[in-house]
Amino acid sequence: MNSSGILGVWTKPKMRKTIAIILSVAALGLNGRAENKVDFAKSVQGIFEARCIDCHGSKKQKGDLRLDSQETALAEVIKPGKSGESELYKHISLPADHEDIMPPKGDPLTKEQIATIKQWIDEGANWPKELVLISAKDRAAAEAAANKLPEPEIKEAPVSDAEKAAIAKLAAGEGIGEKFGAPLVMALAQNTQLIYANFRLVGKDVRDEHLAPLADIQNLSELDLGNTQITAEGLKHISKANNLTKLSLANTSVDDAGLKHIEGLANLMSLNLYNTKVTDAGLASLKNMKFLRKVYAWQSGVTEQGAAELSKALPNVDVNLGFKLAKVEPKKEEKKEVKKAEVKQVAFNKKCPVSGKDVDAAKLFAINFCCGNCLGDFTKDPTKHIAKVKEPDNKKCPISGKDIDASKQFVIGFCCGNCLGDFTKDPAKHIAKVQK
Ligand code: HEC
Repeated sequence: MNSSGILGVWTKPKMRKTIAIILSVAALGLNGRAENKVDFAKSVQGIFEARCIDCHGSKKQKGDLRLDSQETALAEVIKPGKSGESELYKHISLPADHEDIMPPKGDPLTKEQIATIKQWIDEGANWPKELVLISAKDRAAAEAAANKLPEPEIKEAPVSDAEKAAIAKLAAGEGIGEKFGAPLVMALAQNTQLIYANFRLVGKDVRDEHLAPLADIQNLSELDLGNTQITAEGLKHISKANNLTKLSLANTSVDDAGLKHIEGLANLMSLNLYNTKVTDAGLASLKNMKFLRKVYAWQSGVTEQGAAELSKALPNVDVNLGFKLAKVEPKKEEKKEVKKAEVKQVAFNKKCPVSGKDVDAAKLFAINFCCGNCLGDFTKDPTKHIAKVKEPDNKKCPISGKDIDASKQFVIGFCCGNCLGDFTKDPAKHIAKVQK
């Protein structure tokens, strides 16, 4: 949700300015003293929103009255030009102990507020039609929510010749090992210049110098460098990729120095550091990425403490350190030897659903549930529910939507990181092949 979504009923600031100008011109025409005329948006709206709209707005209509739009308010209780005949004015100006006074709770409106409303009605009760009121409480909540999850403003850049050449060069796989073909470089969607680039497919042949053309792709929006040979140095080529929102460095030897090169990527929202050499020190380089929401850091050097530090700077960030490992009870006869409780991951399946090979216990995709019932439902028919699973180690039960219980897990094993990656990208495609 972004602020314009929630507060869409607000007049745009620019429009409001226009309205203010029109109002003051009209006011000048009448009495030549623009500054004395009551401006609804400036002086009245706030009173209504703070004291009336809770009971007379979109949520409640006490006394069948809505005061949140010009249309509803002026239909009944406000007679433009005639405060004395306006029920609204009558109700707010009653003696404080009168049973019909509005608002019925809390202090009465102040003398100044009452006088302002009276003047506003007498001056014609001008209320810009598009200005719909929201109670102060709801507005504060909406603003808090909007502030909580800011969205980056991505500006598509005109496609320069250098960008065109860079895309062509990458798409041709120029200089990158012959056997495996070229990275995937394409528009993120129809009607956009934004670019999605995936080097994972040519993984092991990709080295730092192959990333050089990326420096010319201003519209680079999503970049997957997973499974490549790149190092910290390679990331210099994307240090100015300001439109980049999603970056995967999974399964590379990128370390803290690498993150230093990309600390200026102000619009990054998702960063995959799975199985890299990044530590807490590197994580600290991310703390100015104010739109960052997701950091995947399992099997890296990042600790709970480092994750907590980053969350202090970026309260909306979720640093995923992987799932709690299910304990395998040692068999009785082994018990004496296994002194320290050995923790081992267990998968539902023995064979990788993508390749058919044996499962590697370190390559797991865990789906969490709130309770045994939901886990049971899922296990019975995974294909039915898989669409609701968006990522490994989910925090909300995909079936009930409730908080998860870490002991209710469905774990799918893979033979290697590639297969795990393929599955993670599109679980629905492979789920049918998951078998005991
Ligand atoms: C806590 C809830 C609450 C708040 C806040 C509140 N009202 Fe009311 N209002 C009511 C109720 C309840 C009635 C119906 C009273 C009745 O019919 O006896 C009412 C009735 C009215 C009426 C009479 C409607 C009619 O058709 O006669 C007007 C006018 C009015 N309110 C204006 C206001 C204004 C202006 C404010 C803010 C300054 C306000 N109210 C704030 C609860 C509220």
